Amino acid sequence: MKIDVLTLFPSMFEPVMSESMMWKARDRGLLDFQAHDIRGYAVDKHRTVDDSPYGGGGGMILKPDVLARAIEAVKADDQSPVILMSPQGRLLTHAVALELSRHARLILVCGRYEGIDERVRELAINDEISIGDYVLTGGELAAMVLIDAVLRQIPGLLGAEGAQDRDSHADGLGGLLEGPHYTRPAEFRGLGVPAVLTSGHHAEVDRWRRRQAIKRTWQMRPDLLARANLSDEDRAFLAQLMEDAGD
Ligand code: ADE
Repeated sequence: MKIDVLTLFPSMFEPVMSESMMWKARDRGLLDFQAHDIRGYAVDKHRTVDDSPYGGGGGMILKPDVLARAIEAVKADDQSPVILMSPQGRLLTHAVALELSRHARLILVCGRYEGIDERVRELAINDEISIGDYVLTGGELAAMVLIDAVLRQIPGLLGAEGAQDRDSHADGLGGLLEGPHYTRPAEFRGLGVPAVLTSGHHAEVDRWRRRQAIKRTWQMRPDLLARANLSDEDRAFLAQLMEDAGD
């Protein structure tokens, strides 16, 4: 996958893109990443990238000519989506990350200041994505979050094949959160490990994990249960949980 980012702060990306999974993806040739400096497309001698808004009010707006030139130069003749990182966009979810991971190339535009000129949005932006209902000072951190979530969906990137399908929110778990995990030692500060996990009965372990996922989702994010893919057995277990809690 190729990912191009347009930003006023390209150096913000290098530390993150050079570590851990991001670096692995680049090293293995699964990711071709490039950060492009929007300021490089400014033409006046001060390299101005922003201007005050028509109609007054606070904040500065990215100049349309500079941003349009940057997008056109990076996009060239490609049909890949140009995505604006913005608090007004559609929310980044597991489903959106999966959808984006199927593109061969993504072009991410990081807004700064108050925003971008509406005409560039109309002419050159194909999609707009938010990472949550809060406002960041710029789209850079949001772009990094998006890249991380998208890359995890690319087959062959994570150690165990299909591991991402068992993540919280993933289809393999039917849209549930993952239950608790344990590793050695068997006793830690007076707390043990559920016996089923050391029993060696794989079917029992699977059943326990499924029930724990239902329980955790119900406790932490009950809103997800309405959209979760639950079997009759799952529903019976959930009904029992609710009944026990009502006692
Ligand atoms: N830029 C500023 N706030 C943002 C958000 N919540 N998501 C994506 N980009 C942003």
